[in-house]
Amino acid sequence: MRKGFIYSILRKNLSLLLSIILLSLMVAFINIYFRNMERYLIDFVLAKNLEGFKRVFLTVLLISIVRIFLEYVKAFNLGKFAEKYMNELRLDIGKKLTKVNLEFIEKRATGDFISNLSNDLSLIQNFLNSSLGDIFYQPFVFIFGVILAFQISWKLTLFTFVIIPICIYLSIIISKPVEKYTKKQQDEYGNVNTLVQDTLSGITVIKAFNLKSEMVSLFDEKIKRAFKEGLRSARFEVILDPMKEIISLSPFIMMFLFGGRLVISGEISVGGIMAFIGLINIFIAPMNVLPNIINSYRKAKAALERIWEILSTEEERSGIINEYDPDCPYVVEFENVSFSYDGADYILKDVSFKIKKGEKVAIVGESGGGKSTIVKLILGLYKPTKGHIKVLGIDINEWNLSSLRGRISVANQDVYLFPESVEENIRYGNYNVDNKKIEEVSKKVLAYDFIISDLGGFDKEIGERALKISGGERQRIALARFLLKEADIFIMDEATSALDSDTEAQIQETLFEELKDKTLIVIAHRYSSIKFVDRILVIEDGKIVEDGTHEYLLKKKGVYYKLYSKQLGEVELGV
Ligand SMILES: Nc1ncnc2c1ncn2[C@@H]1O[C@H](COP(=O)(O)OP(=O)(O)O)[C@@H](O)[C@H]1O
Ligand SMILES: [Mg+2]
Repeated sequence: MRKGFIYSILRKNLSLLLSIILLSLMVAFINIYFRNMERYLIDFVLAKNLEGFKRVFLTVLLISIVRIFLEYVKAFNLGKFAEKYMNELRLDIGKKLTKVNLEFIEKRATGDFISNLSNDLSLIQNFLNSSLGDIFYQPFVFIFGVILAFQISWKLTLFTFVIIPICIYLSIIISKPVEKYTKKQQDEYGNVNTLVQDTLSGITVIKAFNLKSEMVSLFDEKIKRAFKEGLRSARFEVILDPMKEIISLSPFIMMFLFGGRLVISGEISVGGIMAFIGLINIFIAPMNVLPNIINSYRKAKAALERIWEILSTEEERSGIINEYDPDCPYVVEFENVSFSYDGADYILKDVSFKIKKGEKVAIVGESGGGKSTIVKLILGLYKPTKGHIKVLGIDINEWNLSSLRGRISVANQDVYLFPESVEENIRYGNYNVDNKKIEEVSKKVLAYDFIISDLGGFDKEIGERALKISGGERQRIALARFLLKEADIFIMDEATSALDSDTEAQIQETLFEELKDKTLIVIAHRYSSIKFVDRILVIEDGKIVEDGTHEYLLKKKGVYYKLYSKQLGEVELGV
């Protein structure tokens, strides 16, 4: 079980933490020591004792230099500690996200998830950067302060500890209503900000539908409301500010009254009372920072709990087998496979088929029929809800998933390019090839020319140019990666959808030639390009409704025939 936030902070880098605590203690001691020196300085001045004054002054100067050094090391160690903690956390999250089920990612791959996560991380960072230092420093300075206060005058100290809480209590009561209005005002401005964001994201709609004046009046209304709340809180503040000032000054005023008598009666020196007033600030400070610390601690704790939820999600379950019989007759076998993403709607229903080694198979069907889902199942990204899947003769549950995926090369419709060089993006297919091979493969998928001319060569970082690389160019880079991989099974899931039909046909011919001994599964959206396959599986509503060669299925005049002639018609009509 989790041991809690504090524990997780303490566990990491204990020695660094101890050094921060020790340094905080020293700095706190020096700060209080200065108050004490202040007392002597004043008393020596009043007594016209130049020798004593010089001595104390030099000591203070010297210790100031030491303090600067200690403060510096303390701040540095605190920063280092926070950085280390955050980096470990980020690394943990990053590692975890590569290991969780695809389901987890697909359910959360929204902007919200990312922005919540980065928001949570910055809440934790805020706590570490701003509050952690106070947590170590304030208790020490308070304790040393109390000790010195007692030394100066126990009567004055007791008096102070009665007065201060009363004043703090009064000032809290008084600022309550202002807080309420300030919060309301902030909420209203929040609404305005949301509206600005909505406007930005919906700007095309706003322009296209001529909603400008509607938006302006919406803005107007919201801003007026925020303004009204702002006025209300301002009105309160105008009255309350002087009152608050009086309250916060009253400990000092009382101190002068009570302390002055003690000075006159000779119980305290003038330096003593001056030093004591300095101490009052030190006693009040924790009361001011404490709510901030608690607030930032609570936020950070909640943020960390949400992150832990991510860190404790179940990882992809993998089997252990990574050996297989290269001569197994069937490369992919689906046996009565049914699959549902949510446990309610079945996307695949009782699907059975076998793909022989070296066979070229196309899977066709209306979009949403479940074709890509079949690919995800073959890759072991999801497990079948019912039935069995074997790949290269081994049940998908028994495969070591990285070995399994090592045997499969996939090219998808949407291509993600890593923010690295073009060459590296292609090399992910196979680390053991030289640059010549990469260029060769790129030529085969008609990527070479634009890589040289548009992208500026293979060694150029994709980085910021990623946006300028078109869908068709991306797909060709992905196909180079795809072809380079030394896999047994090659799967193209609408991998040429963004290419014009001539380029597609040309590349497809090359791919068929290159992969003639391999098993190839093509999910295609243009039927013209799949005539060459050995077999076509037609999927409709999650079921395999037809299975045969192109000619056979055309003659059969069933679902394939309909789909095919519909597209042919569209092509002829130029739709
Ligand atoms: N991660 C997912 N979670 C829930 N439903 C999904 C998910 N991915 C796909 N689907 C649904 O499953 C159905 C089949 O999708 P898919 O296999 O991508 O179809 P195809 O590739 O044939 O267009 C669609 O209705 C789609 O909305
Ligand atoms: Mg699909």
